Amino acid sequence: MTTRITIKRPDDWHLHLRDNDMMRAALPYTARVFGRAICMPNLLPPVRTTADGKAYRERILAALPKGSKFKPLITCYLTDDTDPDDVERGFRDGVFTAVKMYPANATTNSAAGVTDYKKIERVLARMEKLGMRFLIHCEEVASGVDVFDREAVFIEQRLIPMTKRFPGLKIVHEHLSSKIGVDYVRSTGGQVGASITPYHMELTRTDWIGGGLRPYMFVMPVIKTEVDRLALREAATSGDACFFLGTDSAPHPVSRKLAQVGIPGIFAAPVAIESYVKIFEEEGKLDKLEAFASLNGPKHYGLHPNADTITLEKKPWVAPVAMKVEGPEEIALCHKGGETIEWQVVDC
Ligand code: NCD
Ligand code: ZN
Repeated sequence: MTTRITIKRPDDWHLHLRDNDMMRAALPYTARVFGRAICMPNLLPPVRTTADGKAYRERILAALPKGSKFKPLITCYLTDDTDPDDVERGFRDGVFTAVKMYPANATTNSAAGVTDYKKIERVLARMEKLGMRFLIHCEEVASGVDVFDREAVFIEQRLIPMTKRFPGLKIVHEHLSSKIGVDYVRSTGGQVGASITPYHMELTRTDWIGGGLRPYMFVMPVIKTEVDRLALREAATSGDACFFLGTDSAPHPVSRKLAQVGIPGIFAAPVAIESYVKIFEEEGKLDKLEAFASLNGPKHYGLHPNADTITLEKKPWVAPVAMKVEGPEEIALCHKGGETIEWQVVDC
């Protein structure tokens, strides 16, 4: 039985670091283990321009623990009015790694997202030319579309036409959540890659609402069925280059999770790599962990993998229940808070 594993340092290709007090509290959990992270731009207000991106990156760097080599990769929040010249400037100056699209009102802080797909075509054409990655929250939120079908409908109605219109545009289907999505990503011959969260591979909607409502499991895209969970586990542990790690760690103040209208997002950073290792162990695929966590992501982004390594051991510990946040934001509840976690990072 394997009880110790060393892999190249992983990256987190989908992370919500937030801003200010929340960011200062959450950042160390990620910076300790991961080499880089794609930092989602859905702040209030969002990271919309190169100037916003530069300022956000500086705030993150200023909050890093002393000596940390963690590299935040900043993304541009796409709106109907995004200026292709500014996107190009941001990319060429090394401020923006990618552009992120939220369909308007699909998730947390997406009100300024895209409403008119015609209007973003100039930006997509420019990104295709530049070789800049396009990250998509793949959910169709039109009225009449069931929340469990949003991913499948988006693929059919938006993503397939987009890949045909811009065949040179490399896309990331963020937080893949369904079997339909897995099959689709595999069929694109490398044009579309996908990040996969730990919790979409751990939980089903029965865990979420079948035994009392567990508001902290509410996330977008919603956690789906056992068939979907198994398909995602197979995909992640297959080693296929189109699937890679993205925690979607998304802390929220507990009051917003428990409000009359609760907010989606799971704070997974404190147990992120440990959760993935457990999944790969359960699937008998620990030999594929490094591909998923440390190699496939950089390859899809056209970047080098990290040079150094981290080591995990089977050494149980108890996950923190909550993260304390300075200022008025109180605490954020942690994924698997209070549970025993089997694997532990022993060298990073
Ligand atoms: C994310 C957040 O809280 O910012 N929430 C979530 O449910 N995943 C946004 C997102 O990635 O959809
Ligand atoms: Zn997210």
